[in-house]
This record gives sequence, structure tokens and C-alpha cells, in this order.
Amino acid sequence: MQQRRIGDVQVSAIGLGGMPMSIEGRPDHQRSVATIHAALDAGVTLVDTADAYHVHADEVGHNEALIAEALASYGGDTSSVLVATKGGHVRPGDGSWKVDGRPEYLRQAAEASLKRLGVEAIGLYQYHRPDPKVPYAESVGALADLLDAGKIRMAGISNANPAQIREAQEVLGGRLVSVQNQYSPAFRSSRPELDLCTELGLAFLPWSPLGGISRAGGLGDRFAAFRQVADARGVSPQQVDIAWMLAASPVVVPIPGSSRPETIRDTVQAAGLVLTSDELAALDAAAG
Ligand SMILES: NC(=O)c1ccc[n+]([C@@H]2O[C@H](COP(=O)([O-])OP(=O)(O)OC[C@H]3O[C@@H](n4cnc5c(N)ncnc54)[C@H](OP(=O)(O)O)[C@@H]3O)[C@@H](O)[C@H]2O)c1
Repeated sequence: MQQRRIGDVQVSAIGLGGMPMSIEGRPDHQRSVATIHAALDAGVTLVDTADAYHVHADEVGHNEALIAEALASYGGDTSSVLVATKGGHVRPGDGSWKVDGRPEYLRQAAEASLKRLGVEAIGLYQYHRPDPKVPYAESVGALADLLDAGKIRMAGISNANPAQIREAQEVLGGRLVSVQNQYSPAFRSSRPELDLCTELGLAFLPWSPLGGISRAGGLGDRFAAFRQVADARGVSPQQVDIAWMLAASPVVVPIPGSSRPETIRDTVQAAGLVLTSDELAALDAAAG
């Protein structure tokens, strides 16, 4: 598969988003493990997760544990797989998502993620979402501490605006490697962050790149141009979507979610789909 970079680490140009395997509507354990193994078989070497990908209050880190188990039970070599996790979101178990950006909380959450992932240092640790009650520099400062302590190898942020990207880069002393924001045909307001990442050489990981768990399947129905290009190429609209993102900038590393082997197998083929400038122009116009 085509390769891209996050910091000094080479990863597959398309990663696997783990969220659908651990939140509401998740599949059974066996299907989730089969999905992760299918991604690895297809050459995926980036898996995105978070401690908050769970349903019940007593199963924090459900997705991290699942990924660690699937990596351990995979027959092949997983040494080049980068697991990117996040801290700063909490789920009390009533279906809601809350934020906690206190530095002491983030340091403790990272320690817990480290244990669940069974690694000496987390490959990429991302501050999940700004907490309005805590100065941003203080939350990101916890990531600097974790880097200094060797608990995490790389630091990223998520749901950040351009000012926060610049602030994080400063607080981390130039060690910020990635930004994970929502970006899809229906949600393009993260374009300024994508452009800033291109300028600064930071990886940009679009989340919900297919429009989100409940809408991903209907992408081609909602965006006729994506359906048209897909039909002309004999591929799925989801492949066209991811190929369109990869063409936007060399720093883009999409992380489509999946809970079935067949969907991740289909989507990763986008890494080999090179769209023409006419096709890209039609998709840009449709998505705008
Ligand atoms: N940082 C944040 O705040 C944040 C927020 C949301 C998500 N994320 C991350 O971003 C990842 C991706 O976002 P997402 O999972 O919300 O949404 P998404 O990637 O837009 O959509 C996920 C859904 O797409 C479906 N799908 C994938 N490939 C397909 C294909 N080729 N054809 C048809 N359907 C296909 C999957 O269906 P099946 O389930 O049937 O396989 C899956 O449920 C998450 O998993 C998570 O890691 C981060």
C-alpha cells in the first residue's frame, strides 16, 4: 500500500478507525477481531483508537484492549503497526461524551492506555478534544511531560483550530506531529487546519471521513458526483471519497472506521486509486 508519514514513522496511507467496533451498535468480539486482522492483511499499519471508545462506564478502553488483543493474536508481523490513541474524553455510561483536559487526568489516562495496549511507550498519543475549563497550553503541557518521561513516542491533537495547532506546536517545543479533525464531503470546515498542517508538515488525520458511522453507507446517494466517478471507475463511492482526500495533500492520512472485514478491504483499495484532475474538480465542486 502507498505509504505516508506521521512524525518520523512511516504508515499506510489509509488507517483503520476503531470506534465502530466499541461504541453503540458494535459487532460481536469475533467480527471485530476479524475486521482488524483483515486490515492488517491488507497492509494497514495505522490503527486509530481512544480510551473513550466504549459504551458502559466500567469498560473504559474497550477499543484499546480489543486492538491489543487482535494484534497479539495476528499470525504475521505487527512490529510496524502504529497504534494511535487519545485521552481527554470520558464516557460516564449514559451515552454522553464529556471532556476532561486537566493535566493530572491526562497523565493518568495515558498510563492506563499504556497498560491496556501492553506497550512500553504509546506510539502516538492525541489530546482528544479541548476542555473549555482548562487552558489549552496546560492540557497540551501534559503531552510534553509524557514525551519527556518516555511514556509516549509522539504527540498529536484532535478537534483543534489553527490557533490551537500553533499553540500546541509551541508548548511541545516543535514536537507536535499530527492533527485529527473531522473532514468529509459533507464537513469541509476543517480545510484551514488541513492547509495549516500541509504548511507545517504535520500529518492530518480526517475523522469520520465517510460522513460518520450511520451515514457512510449512503455516501453515494448523498453526493451524486462521488457515485458517478465510482460507477465510471467500477469502484465504491467510499473508495472515491478516500482517494479524493489522499489527493488533497500528502500530509492527509484518512482513518475510515470499520466493523466488518469487507468494508475495510474495500476502502483500503483507495490507496491505489489515482483520480484525474477533472474528476477531482468535479468532487471538489460537489463537496463544497
Ligand atoms: N477525534 C475525534 O473526535 C473522532 C471522532 C469520531 C471518530 N474518530 C475516529 O475516526 C474514525 C473514523 O470515523 P467514524 O468511524 O466515525 O466514521 P466513518 O469512517 O466516516 O464511517 C465509518 C463507517 O463506514 C463504513 N464503511 C467503511 N468503509 C466502507 C465501504 N467501503 N463501504 C461502505 N461502508 C463503509 C463502516 O461500516 P461497517 O461498520 O458496516 O463496517 C463504518 O461503520 C473513527 O473510527 C475514530 O477512530 C475520531
